[in-house]
Amino acid sequence: MSFLKSMVRKFNYAVWQRVYSNEIICLFEMKQPREITVEGLTIKPVTTQNLGDAQSFQSQFQLRQFQRLMNEGNIGFYGYLDKVCIHRSWVITGPAQAKLHPLFSKKITEKESFIHYCETAPQARGKNMFTAVLSHIGRQFAGNKILISADQLNRSSIRSIKKSGFIEHERIHLIIFFGIRLVKKLPFEA
Ligand SMILES: CC(C)(COP(=O)(O)OP(=O)(O)OC[C@H]1O[C@@H](n2cnc3c(N)ncnc32)[C@H](O)[C@@H]1OP(=O)(O)O)[C@@H](O)C(=O)NCCC(=O)NCCS
Repeated sequence: MSFLKSMVRKFNYAVWQRVYSNEIICLFEMKQPREITVEGLTIKPVTTQNLGDAQSFQSQFQLRQFQRLMNEGNIGFYGYLDKVCIHRSWVITGPAQAKLHPLFSKKITEKESFIHYCETAPQARGKNMFTAVLSHIGRQFAGNKILISADQLNRSSIRSIKKSGFIEHERIHLIIFFGIRLVKKLPFEA
């Protein structure tokens, strides 16, 4: 079953999103960092030694992706509750291409950090884990402009992003049809 789920995820990520996408992507910037902590939550940077801890809720395919992210210079953060890994978030600092979508990237400079590839284990959702990790990353990268993006429909994600002190910075309507890309900036209320 998990093999099937992993195949569907791979197919969606690698193929379908390149064939057809119609998404509104919201880009946020950390403007009012808040100190949010959760009792019992420990946040640790990802290293070669603890990379495998996320197998508590991630597939082998995802663990291989984390290794690739590390090799490409991303910094990962794992969240632990009772020593069990229940959250992961990754950060890339420029100069780099921040991937807002598999076919749409934004260039970031050495003073900009982009948070991406975030997930909380289903059993730990709705308990401020993501919000606390974003707040932690905000402190770790305080000297930089910190960015994160989310699909407009991803209400939980946007709620955590706003709770931790991000303000909307840009909104983009992205349409992809068989590799042809249409990008339109949309107005928004900050
Ligand atoms: C988006 C995601 C990371 C949020 O993680 P989280 O640790 O549950 O986030 P938080 O607890 O900090 O905040 C979640 C918000 O989602 C909503 N929520 C409440 N209960 C929830 C539940 N059981 N499950 C999911 N979301 C819930 C609430 O609005 C909550 O904010 P509130 O408590 O102030 O009302 C998580 O839902 C997830 O892993 N989703 C799949 C991957 C994904 O979308 N990644 C984000 C890419 S930017």
